Amino acid sequence: HRRLTIGLFGFGVVGEGLYKVLHQTSSLNATIKKICIKDAHKKRNAPAELFTTDRDELLNDETINVIVEVINESEPAFEIVSKALTNGKAVVSASKKMIAEHLPQILQLQQETGMPFLCESSACASIPVIRNLEEYYDNDLLHSMRAIVNGSTNYILTKMFEDKLDFKTALLQAQQLGFAEANPTLDVDGWDAVNKWVILLCHAYGIVATTDNILFTGIQHVNENDANVGREKNYEIRLVAQAKKLENGKIAAFVMPQFVKQDDHLSFVKNEYNGVVIESSFADKQFFYGKGAGSFPTASAVLSDISALRYDYKYEYKKLYHHTPNQLTTDFYIRI
Ligand code: HSE
Repeated sequence: HRRLTIGLFGFGVVGEGLYKVLHQTSSLNATIKKICIKDAHKKRNAPAELFTTDRDELLNDETINVIVEVINESEPAFEIVSKALTNGKAVVSASKKMIAEHLPQILQLQQETGMPFLCESSACASIPVIRNLEEYYDNDLLHSMRAIVNGSTNYILTKMFEDKLDFKTALLQAQQLGFAEANPTLDVDGWDAVNKWVILLCHAYGIVATTDNILFTGIQHVNENDANVGREKNYEIRLVAQAKKLENGKIAAFVMPQFVKQDDHLSFVKNEYNGVVIESSFADKQFFYGKGAGSFPTASAVLSDISALRYDYKYEYKKLYHHTPNQLTTDFYIRI
């Protein structure tokens, strides 16, 4: 299989995690040649000669055949991805916000350049959900998905309602553990979850949506009263992303805090874990579970994408071509 020479953008929680993880998997035959960072003066746990602040050093290096992009800001991330694909490099990205904001352009770039763009780490981190959705279910077979896709809010809900921590302390812990976004409002108000839902809806149903098309709210309005009601009735509170195929063939999708019963698989998902419950013809109900945030769990998904590139793996987007663009409906239902 192919030898991979990687140009890495970003050396934060995920980038540094990947650097360490790659060093422990020598069988991959993949090496990081250069790492592009924003701040040249920050102290880093890697040899100084690996680092540069000049993007083009990576993007124009012909020996680099894979760009791994794990930076925070959407617009620079999109520029890097576009340029890398255009320059004939495969791309692995963890930038869910960037992908959700630029989905049509990314799909077009992939088509035009024929280069792989893989983003397993962008939703549910360690759970291999994207490739699973791409490969395992034909669209007609997939009836519904219910998921917990944001680790920070799940961590906060668990700590608040099970360990009786106050919101601020729980959020601070999520930040210290490297789960939360640099701007944690993205987690708390549901933006991160809906961004991931845009990505998963594309791979599940071929829907190219934006966050404007999906009703969503985070945990900003969840309070102690809700917790008390939940406790009385033996319910847990979870921020649930949901998609369901209606009888008219349209897909209803939304992200909302919900009470979940104790026998619901999602009530089993605690702290920074994520979970996805898929119902489909023949397979019936399946439950996918794993860490959805944090340095190594996220790096593990980046690593799996790098590994797949050795065999020139690409998403086929088979379902995109079966569907009309306005297949998403605003009709929805809430389970209580
Ligand atoms: N802030 C995100 C979360 C990180 O809490 O799930 C992983 O995407």
